[in-house]
Amino acid sequence: MSGDGAHGGRITSVLSETRTFPPAHDHHARVGSMDAYRAMYDRAERDPDGYWSEAATELWWARGWDKVVEWNPDAPSWDATWFVGGKTNAAVNCVDRHLAGWRRNKAAILFEGEPGDTRILTYAELHREVCKAANALTALGVTAGDFVAIYMPMIPEAVIAMLACARLGAPHTVVFGGFASEALADRIRDSKAKVVITADGGWRRGHAIALKDNVDHAVPGSTVQHVVVVKRTAQSVAWHTGRDHWWHDVVDSASAKHTAQAFDAEHPLFSLYTSGTTGKPKGILHTTAGYLVNAMQSSRLVFDLREEDIFWCTADIGWVTGHSYVTYGPLANGATVLLYEGAPNHPEPDRFWQMIERWRVTTFYTAPTAIRAFMRWGDELPAKHDLSSLRLLGSVGEPINPEAWMWYREKIGGNRCPIVDTWWQTETGSIVISPLPGATPTKPGSATLPLPGMIVDVVKRDGSRCADNEGGFLVIKRPWPSMLRTIWGDHERFEKAYFSEIPGTYFAGDGARRDSDGYIWVMGRVDDVINVAGHRLSTMEIESALVSHPSVAEAAVVGRPDDLKGQAIVAFVTPKRGITADDALAKVLRQHVVEQIGALARPEELRFAEALPKTRSGKIMRRLLREVASGSKARGDTTTLEDQSVLETLAQSFAEE
Ligand code: PRX
Repeated sequence: MSGDGAHGGRITSVLSETRTFPPAHDHHARVGSMDAYRAMYDRAERDPDGYWSEAATELWWARGWDKVVEWNPDAPSWDATWFVGGKTNAAVNCVDRHLAGWRRNKAAILFEGEPGDTRILTYAELHREVCKAANALTALGVTAGDFVAIYMPMIPEAVIAMLACARLGAPHTVVFGGFASEALADRIRDSKAKVVITADGGWRRGHAIALKDNVDHAVPGSTVQHVVVVKRTAQSVAWHTGRDHWWHDVVDSASAKHTAQAFDAEHPLFSLYTSGTTGKPKGILHTTAGYLVNAMQSSRLVFDLREEDIFWCTADIGWVTGHSYVTYGPLANGATVLLYEGAPNHPEPDRFWQMIERWRVTTFYTAPTAIRAFMRWGDELPAKHDLSSLRLLGSVGEPINPEAWMWYREKIGGNRCPIVDTWWQTETGSIVISPLPGATPTKPGSATLPLPGMIVDVVKRDGSRCADNEGGFLVIKRPWPSMLRTIWGDHERFEKAYFSEIPGTYFAGDGARRDSDGYIWVMGRVDDVINVAGHRLSTMEIESALVSHPSVAEAAVVGRPDDLKGQAIVAFVTPKRGITADDALAKVLRQHVVEQIGALARPEELRFAEALPKTRSGKIMRRLLREVASGSKARGDTTTLEDQSVLETLAQSFAEE
């Protein structure tokens, strides 16, 4: 990249190429210098078994492992097994083992509800609640291997429910509360969940959102035998006697004594549904020990966790970020996490800054879309609050544009806090590429360098390495402990989706380039996955939702660059013959998508077309539609024009097959 600023709209690239921020000088950082990082990285590359084995000794084990990893580089999907023969329990690692010393009385969870109510749970209290919930689930017939669906607002019971399941070896599948009943039903069906844990609802922008009602629509005819309901908003709910149980009845009366069993290192810990290119969302399966090793270690390395930290990751537990950096990673380290139930702009758009001031948050981890929204709401909002407790800021979920990065650094971090832009995925389980605070000089817009043990590259379609600054595919070249093990119930799809595209590698689905310092610049997805406000959606899934409406003959969905959300959803729809294509229909169809998937999938724009452009073999010409949707040139400052066209070329090389 020339960095000469000659092209209008290229200001983002110019910024990112010319400014490098030295790491904050910090004597206490875990990895205190670039030399220390390099030494650690090289060591992990030379001796991965030794490196991961050392990381794993940080966990509590009922039985040690016989072998660090078994995998087959020549098999269609590596099929790695980690910490072979080892036995452990994820909940014991996150809770019980902190009870032996002074952490027993340390706050594990600081909770603030949207109405302003607060609750603090020490590790001892969390332990009691998790044990009671585990006993209550056992009484409802849950045993190791049974799936439990969790459909909850961001309240302490959500974390307690996850840990209770982990304690029993019952894999959880958390479904984001913003998903509609249809989407919940799909996930229940696919995981064959036996129990659903939910709440009557949660508070969002002053309203009591209904959750139980969606569960009532999703459960009939499924494998679900029991529904456990936390009373949060006290709204009235329908009740199915025998099936439904109030949390406060079954959990509060349960014994607080529970002896946890140790499970195999590879025992399933959770599945989490995420969108792929084709078909229904896929259940990404993570197992116990490997996942926890990476979640715990990356929390310490990337967030430089300290005992006195107040760690606030704003992600909902319905996403992988909430799994790894609200629940498992921080709690395995004995850290204090802040949990917030509601919207960032309720009652006022400075709610987050108020909360940082009130709780003296030290570490704040959020998504670029949120940062861009905060920018719009104005500098005076953060300026009104004392944010001096902050010492580290993180970003995740989508590419962060340099302008947002700079704003975050100046207005929130007071030019004092390092920013960690962390690249990873539901599939990777934990952070793969990120600066280490105190070690890595940062460049706004780059996730910088891989963590030790993560062998990352940018390659061409044939697997050969790209030249510096040449756009290519982001791949990982060796298994790592927290990698997904399979797609639940569809191992073939797992092989095909991640291992068949680029020989000998795990292919992430992202386009990227590596600059001459080896820094990775992630550009975005090259498949039919779109990233709207940090939420990952499949264009195909939205198309199926549209086509399921009786008025629709055909639909095609594409993403177009959006200043706020990164990408916005544009739908092209051909109505059935005789149906009038008007604004009223457009409104109905957009709402139909909300009912099928959830508000997060509502098309920003819906255009009617008499026919969709197709190739001779009948494939929809998405490139053309993307061009139409964006206007002839890319809009917005979230992606450079240059990156946009590189991405388009990379995407095309998939579409042509
Ligand atoms: O495209 C990348 C983008 O989010 C995708 C993964 O989405 P999901 O599985 O929902 O997990 C999100 C939270 C880990 C990736 O394929 N992505 C995530 N982090 C970044 C990113 N893109 C650019 N920069 C990031 N830091």
